[in-house]
Amino acid sequence: MATAKFKSVSPYTQQPSPPPQDYIYKKYLEDLALNKGVRHPKVRLALFGVGRAGTIHLSNIISSPRVKLLYVVDDIESNWANLKDYWHLDDVVLLNSKQADRVYNDPNVDAVVVASPTFTHEGIVRRALEAKKAVFCEKPIAEDNANSIKCYETARKIGKPLFCAFNRRFDPSYSAVRDRVRNGEVGHVHVIKTVSRDSPLPSIDYLKISGGIFHDCMVHDFDIITWVLGEYPVKVSAQAHAHIPEIKAIGDHDTVVVTLYFPSGTLGMIDISRNSSYGYDQRLEVFGAKGMIRADNEQPIHCVTTQYDQDGINSSPIWYSFASRFMNGYRRELDHFVDVVLGKAESSVQPKETLAVIKIATACQESARTGKIVNITWAPNELP
Ligand SMILES: NC(=O)c1ccc[n+]([C@@H]2O[C@H](COP(=O)([O-])OP(=O)(O)OC[C@H]3O[C@@H](n4cnc5c(N)ncnc54)[C@H](O)[C@@H]3O)[C@@H](O)[C@H]2O)c1
Repeated sequence: MATAKFKSVSPYTQQPSPPPQDYIYKKYLEDLALNKGVRHPKVRLALFGVGRAGTIHLSNIISSPRVKLLYVVDDIESNWANLKDYWHLDDVVLLNSKQADRVYNDPNVDAVVVASPTFTHEGIVRRALEAKKAVFCEKPIAEDNANSIKCYETARKIGKPLFCAFNRRFDPSYSAVRDRVRNGEVGHVHVIKTVSRDSPLPSIDYLKISGGIFHDCMVHDFDIITWVLGEYPVKVSAQAHAHIPEIKAIGDHDTVVVTLYFPSGTLGMIDISRNSSYGYDQRLEVFGAKGMIRADNEQPIHCVTTQYDQDGINSSPIWYSFASRFMNGYRRELDHFVDVVLGKAESSVQPKETLAVIKIATACQESARTGKIVNITWAPNELP
């Protein structure tokens, strides 16, 4: 009887209160209630590129009731029949890149999603903007800062959004860390660090045209760190090495460590690899005067309890690749882009943030090449 005094009223008399952290349940309740009230127009899209990244976007486009896919542009024509069949793209027009004018000239296309190789981005982005389409572009917008600036200037002149798809910002764990840091929960940040180990190892064909590990891979880490801190580094240093002979042969690195020095005294560290044999290892840790916050790896089968035996303690593996680890982030970034196109939200990835990331990547690449600390200067209009 000791606990009888804790009996409460019937749960039917109380409103359920799901925790705000259950973002999937929140979305489910919206879908269940159908209570948006106003029928919003669908955003009509063209998708450029259906490789590793494009397939993730295609899957999200098809499952979203807020968009309608009109065109897919990709040069591997031998894939078209399977693509149509697998995804039921009965009403979708497939084109190769030489036929892409049809997309730009079609007034029914509201926006394009660019997931083709990096060297093609700038051309597609500029043609699409000039044709008055909103643009969602995989990182990076262009191969260098000057051309990225030109793309943003075109977007401003035309008055259409140009969204750079830094998907990790839309990951619920990473954005929770940022919110809590920005709420002062760790106080002034003394150290911020990311571990970012890729899996599976990208193909050499991809790496040859990727732009190199700093601009292709580490940009995600620069983006997350500067987005959490709201501050840009003034000194960086990088050590880089290629353990894998095929990566060495193309003049790239597979393993890099970077340190960053921020004007407020915060220190940053990035530990990155192209090849993590045990899965896609992605961690973020923020240490400050009042405490520490960490986003750890997720385990897909996390509800199976830990197994103990005489060899030790085992738990399930972490997610194997970016497609699985950031699945929710990719969905949420598409949803955000649709809000931006419909004028319901400001783009949460600002042009100056994307340009800052390119500048930091270039400085780190320079440090790795020269073995020296590189200073970065920022004009007032470049700062966050
Ligand atoms: N945000 C992320 O997590 C993430 C992950 C992977 C790749 N990416 C980015 O996505 C882009 C594509 O990378 P990927 O790994 O998907 O490459 P991929 O090689 O797997 O796919 C590229 C696809 O684009 C097609 N293509 C080539 N030229 C084209 C053109 N002019 N127009 C339209 N399609 C064209 C190719 O036929 C291919 O199917 C890169 O810019 C990369 O940086 C981002």
